[in-house]
Amino acid sequence: MSLGGNDAYRLRPDATVTLREDGAVVLRVARYRLVLDDVSVGRRSTLLRLGESWTTDTEIGELVAAVEGETRILGVQVLVRGLLAHSWLGRRLLGDGRALLELIPRGLGSNSLPPPLGHDATTRYRLSRFALIRSADGRLVAETPLSTLAVAALAPSVAAALAQAAVGDGIGLDDLTRTLGVAEDLAGRVLDDLLTARVLVSAAAAGQESGAAPLAPWSPTELALHERSRPGRHVLPVGGTYPMRGRIEPEPLARTFDGCAAVPLPEPDLALVAKTDPALTDVVRVRRTVRQHDDSNPITAAQLAEFLHRVQRTTVLGDDGGTEVGARPYPAGGALHELEVYAVVRRCEGLDPGVYHYESVGHRLERLGPLEGAATRALEYVTASARFTGTPQVHLVITARVARVMWKYEGFGYTLIMKHAGVLTGLMYLVATAMGLAPCAVGAGDSAAFARAAGVDPLAEPSVADFVLGSCLPQDAPQWEEKVDTL
Ligand SMILES: Cc1cc2nc3c(=O)[nH]c(=O)nc-3n(C[C@H](O)[C@H](O)[C@H](O)COP(=O)(O)O)c2cc1C
Repeated sequence: MSLGGNDAYRLRPDATVTLREDGAVVLRVARYRLVLDDVSVGRRSTLLRLGESWTTDTEIGELVAAVEGETRILGVQVLVRGLLAHSWLGRRLLGDGRALLELIPRGLGSNSLPPPLGHDATTRYRLSRFALIRSADGRLVAETPLSTLAVAALAPSVAAALAQAAVGDGIGLDDLTRTLGVAEDLAGRVLDDLLTARVLVSAAAAGQESGAAPLAPWSPTELALHERSRPGRHVLPVGGTYPMRGRIEPEPLARTFDGCAAVPLPEPDLALVAKTDPALTDVVRVRRTVRQHDDSNPITAAQLAEFLHRVQRTTVLGDDGGTEVGARPYPAGGALHELEVYAVVRRCEGLDPGVYHYESVGHRLERLGPLEGAATRALEYVTASARFTGTPQVHLVITARVARVMWKYEGFGYTLIMKHAGVLTGLMYLVATAMGLAPCAVGAGDSAAFARAAGVDPLAEPSVADFVLGSCLPQDAPQWEEKVDTL
């Protein structure tokens, strides 16, 4: 960002400025701090003013001249330039007595700003396909995960120009000048700011965005989710900030359904399992995806019970930071364990077909409904997705009670849930293989059909992963090396 006659500056909205007892001025944003010692009265007055209101270069000059003389103005302007370059200040572009747009920094420190770009008067520019436009604080904000600067359109004409840039072959300097109704040099500065923030791009860059690596494979939403969930380029909170504490009640760890029939499950004899299980090295070596089941010898309720126990059995440990945490066979961020396992059962010896929830604290199945309608649709979807021969015996649906994670974690809640789903899926493969069962993960199940079948709210507890389980045909059964006993 460069200083200019049409600019006003202010401390970025997520930052604070305080005056320490020793006279130092301290700026803070997130976990970052900038301490300015030994500041002259002109600098201190300017910093405090920038914390309170939008201030132009001329106003900074007047303020400094009044408190310590004209000779000190240049030094203060150098300080303001440094604060801008390190993303401590937002900048507004003014024109004809009104603010046209605002540049909102997302990063912090040296090299946190994109290099300033200038327009070419004969080139047409388009809205980047990565630009995400939303309403925030009563303004239209355009931002892209490819830039550390967001833009707020403060004048409706700037919002109109963004809309024009999204259509056809985009917008040129002459169109922009007409749309904004300002002098061409001012329209040029608007264009430069929109280019610097990478909200607008040239036709050549737009072609690269959709036609060439590394950008072409990314969808705007996936890239935005990735960027938001990883710290480094921005200073938005990522981690355990407890954003919902005091706003919504945390949910308990145990997920139970009231008023439905419960099917108690046999407890597996884990001491016996430990003696008879193949070695981990062998399980990892022979593990394979198996896409057919043996209906002449189906999975049994005892096997399903042992499998669920070995992947999902839950022990409640108590309170941590205001929410209940627990232990399961797999690790999970914050020990929050938001994942639940449901079973859409078609064929299982000793268990009626239907939709069940595994109540993992009590080790029992809660029967939620019959295998018909939406449940059949969910099963058909994974059958096709898994390229299955025949129909799976059991379709396990993994859901996430998102509020358990998002009550504590900010910025990476959803990506954390995806990681947990992967951890659980990996364990399901290993346990199924060790038990001689047929495992198959499925990339995507029909979330809407499953939510209807189980009667769960797809926003509170969306399904996030699917797994197909059943008995192996003899030719698919894992072959273990014989264990040799010696006396
Ligand atoms: C998270 C995940 C999602 C998967 N999704 C599907 C799927 O949608 N359809 C499918 O046929 N196989 C799916 N698979 C199985 C893979 O195709 C399989 O693991 C891969 O071909 C390697 O074979 P292997 O498991 O026998 O080593 C998935 C596997 C994982 C781990």
